Amino acid sequence: MKQIKIGIIGFGTVGSGLAEVLYSQKERMTKRTGMSITLSKVADLNLPELPDKFQGVTLVRDAQEIIHDADIDIVVELIGGIEPAKTFVIDAINAGKHVVTANKALLSQEGKDIFAAASKKGVEVGFEASVGGGIPVIKSLREGLVANKILSIMGIMNGTANYILTKMTEEGVPFDEVLKEAQDKGFAEADPTYDIEGIDTAHKLAILMSMAYGMNITHNEIVTEGISQIEPLDIQLAHEFGCRIKLLAISRNHGDHVEARVHPTMVPESHLLASINGAYNAIHFTGDTVGNVLLYGLGAGMVPTGSAVAADVIDIARNIKAQSIGRVPPLSYLPEHIQALRVTPMDELYGPYYFRFTVKDEPGVLAEIAGILGQHDISLESVVQKGRKKTGSVPLVMLTHDARESSVSEALKEISKLDTVLAPVVKIRLLGDEA
Ligand code: HSE
Repeated sequence: MKQIKIGIIGFGTVGSGLAEVLYSQKERMTKRTGMSITLSKVADLNLPELPDKFQGVTLVRDAQEIIHDADIDIVVELIGGIEPAKTFVIDAINAGKHVVTANKALLSQEGKDIFAAASKKGVEVGFEASVGGGIPVIKSLREGLVANKILSIMGIMNGTANYILTKMTEEGVPFDEVLKEAQDKGFAEADPTYDIEGIDTAHKLAILMSMAYGMNITHNEIVTEGISQIEPLDIQLAHEFGCRIKLLAISRNHGDHVEARVHPTMVPESHLLASINGAYNAIHFTGDTVGNVLLYGLGAGMVPTGSAVAADVIDIARNIKAQSIGRVPPLSYLPEHIQALRVTPMDELYGPYYFRFTVKDEPGVLAEIAGILGQHDISLESVVQKGRKKTGSVPLVMLTHDARESSVSEALKEISKLDTVLAPVVKIRLLGDEA
């Protein structure tokens, strides 16, 4: 029987999840592939020893011992971050190894170099686990939706942020409190910046956009706003307006330009994405031939993510056996058809907004703010003022009709300078016609 040998660099949560899946599914994988797919070596700087059940697997400290091991067919990079991950991936490719990675930060920044190196060497790069954890989103986009022009991508792609927003919604607890609880439970990272500020979601959106549109894009080109400014009051008001607040990745394809943004969004309660709760992820594609597709599942976790990494390993093993390496290009488009597409400047965006102003409770304040919005051609759909706080400030909340982002920015800059406005304005975009 054909033997395929795997080396894992980095034995953290996902690395041990992959080892577990390769171990527990070994027989099934053999029945499905006709091959013996075996974990051969693990490189980790800190792990004292491998669990007993992984007898026969060698633990090393130096990743290069895996990269240059002639018996290893597939190198799995699971250390995360840019360096030394990029060096390990490029070295493995140059050593003629196929590579699997879950590293969204790396691919969304350095993907161009990595795919070019792999194409030159005739090896494969699998990255199913980089977006949506256990959800087979990459394979769906690359293969299941291959006969579509992708018209839009929308998704909840960060479990930590979605867990926090869900708890705030269901229990009315402030952001800081939920975050601390999530950290205490070991659920949120000690440094949660990437998750709560939308950066992790932007990494994932950049990867999906590269594949959906066949374009070069890095996460730096994606406008990214996080959820740390959201207060229980915003969530309560969203509910009164028939919406839920979600951290969404949104991209719409306008042909010669494409939107690319990550921000808290008020999603109508009737929309499927409004009901994705807790640590779950969901990614919604619209294709011109298929219509709407929603993929839902666990976006993180040891074994679900291990399942996605294992799927890449098996795909590559099958291609090795069938001598069909490179059958499916990593980004679905052939490299010569990857194009430069203009990312729509945020100022050109047009849609409805929610504003929450913290203002002095004095006559004329509402009229002054509404007047400035009117001067910038921003029309109001509704206005709500909540009860006076002990401090003498009141929250003044407005929903607008469709407005241009550039006008909104100018108006809010002017309003922020008023003496009667006591705190930074909270602005949340509503999911408009794109819903
Ligand atoms: N930190 C991510 C999340 C999981 O909270 O969804 C890995 O992509």
